[in-house]
Amino acid sequence: MADKKKSGEILNVPAHVGIIMDGNGRWASKRGLPRKFGHREGAKTFRTITKACRDMGVKYVTYYAFSTENWSRPEDEVEAIMDLFEKYLDEVKDFIEENIRIRFIGDRSVLKPTLLEKMDDTEKTSENFTAMDCLLAINYGGRDEITRAVKNIAGKVKNGELSVDDINEQLVTDSLDTSFAPPVDLIIRSGGEERLSNFLIWQAAYAEYYFTDVLWPDFSKKELENALKAYSDRNRRFGGVKSSK
Ligand code: FPP
Repeated sequence: MADKKKSGEILNVPAHVGIIMDGNGRWASKRGLPRKFGHREGAKTFRTITKACRDMGVKYVTYYAFSTENWSRPEDEVEAIMDLFEKYLDEVKDFIEENIRIRFIGDRSVLKPTLLEKMDDTEKTSENFTAMDCLLAINYGGRDEITRAVKNIAGKVKNGELSVDDINEQLVTDSLDTSFAPPVDLIIRSGGEERLSNFLIWQAAYAEYYFTDVLWPDFSKKELENALKAYSDRNRRFGGVKSSK
């Protein structure tokens, strides 16, 4: 941030961006359409924005695609979202051309076998792609993820693989679903709400936030650029003192 910069220039690209794709339902309702049409449009935006992140130099992008709380939605909406995941994973060849690695986070234990199989295939097919990692959080909740990590660590203590003194922040970080990724630098949330909603609560401890009223299906490359510019202009201190610019 010490570099001289022209106004509006993005000098500091976040390595890891988390995106909460909110507003699909409202986008559809405003048009008199069932909510699932909003998710379908949202899936198109997901594709555009993923490529744009890659083009702008982001190394990891994590999307909140389906939360542990989203099961309480009407059955047909849940089904429509799950169908969208399957359909998109069938089209994974697009990502082969884009050199983007796809990975999933969240609790897989309750997902449909057909979806699980496609998730595994997608991860395998894309495992050597190096331009960017795209993480999809499906049946994901930050508290659930931390709870699973704690159980895992406790099991290792119980069987003597670890001692209580081995437990530190790094071990917890390494026990999360995102163990391979750096901390989240920027969280973007569309749709007008200004909260984290149990998304990456450990990983986003020092993240910057960018909120916009734009509904996810309308979220454009321009909006992404605005978010990255806002991030680039901020002065992150990580609990230290303010640097003189
Ligand atoms: C939040 O909008 C959106 C979701 C819970 C689902 C997000 C899923 C997709 C965009 C499909 C993604 C597909 C792939 C392949 C990643 P909302 O329904 O809460 O909107 P509202 O606040 O207007 O009701």
